[in-house]
Amino acid sequence: MAMRRICVANQKGGVAKTTTSLNLAAELARAGKKVILLDMDPQYSSTAAIFGNQRFEFNIYNVIVDKMDIQSVIQHSDAFGIDVVPSDIELSGATLRINEHIGREKVLYHYTRKLKYDFMIVDAPPSLGLLTVNALTACDELLVPICPEFFSLKGIKLLEEIVENVRVGLGSDIKITGVLITRFRERLVTNEARNAIRNYFGNKVFKVMIPENITLEEAHNAHLPVYKYDEKSKGAEAYRLLAKEIINARPQKNTGK
Ligand SMILES: Nc1ncnc2c1ncn2[C@@H]1O[C@H](COP(=O)(O)OP(=O)(O)O)[C@@H](O)[C@H]1O
Ligand SMILES: [Mg+2]
Repeated sequence: MAMRRICVANQKGGVAKTTTSLNLAAELARAGKKVILLDMDPQYSSTAAIFGNQRFEFNIYNVIVDKMDIQSVIQHSDAFGIDVVPSDIELSGATLRINEHIGREKVLYHYTRKLKYDFMIVDAPPSLGLLTVNALTACDELLVPICPEFFSLKGIKLLEEIVENVRVGLGSDIKITGVLITRFRERLVTNEARNAIRNYFGNKVFKVMIPENITLEEAHNAHLPVYKYDEKSKGAEAYRLLAKEIINARPQKNTGK
């Protein structure tokens, strides 16, 4: 079976990209899959959530900018049961460094081809810049977390436009595997937003919704996957169901849209 490469992206901050990347990766690992998580955010939230204050001299920046072998920057997390390519603040300067390079949009693609895992999860930064484009071109599947409270159709259309440009302009085969409703709270406005999201994306919306659940934030701060922090919590249950849906989702070849 080919490695499934999933990019978790949405240019909006705070919609649970990182929380989803971490907990999805951990759940897939728990289900027996071999998983690697790539932190593509200069804010290194995934790295910090997994490893705490520990910093890594060599990280994804060195792969992208210095062409360092990706194998030599991989870290293992026992707590999450996954391999991680960490990030650090210097990644914020990577765009400037690779801007003049030919093939600058597919640097990550090239350096991740040889990885051998069941799943590669890429936690994208909250922007639509070159780092996100690199995250997208390195992947075949896109997972878009959307928080109904911040839902903006205009924002989603921008993201779709970038994805289409990546497909048409860069020969990428990426398609939306799913839209994930996150931080859901039962309220009139959020119910309306949820319906709008379902109307727009149809069956691309995952059946499971991630509820607003403080346990997720606590697990994040405790540097643990939510299932280890509190297996019975609503957050743990939701991410377990998400992993199940993703494992069962058969990625189809693109048919145009
Ligand atoms: N379902 C949730 N319930 C409660 N807090 C959440 C939930 N999802 C994410 N959070 C918290 O919200 C904040 C932003 O989430 P994060 O995953 O970092 O978003 P992003 O990566 O999109 O910026 C974090 O403090 C995180 O712990
Ligand atoms: Mg994040």
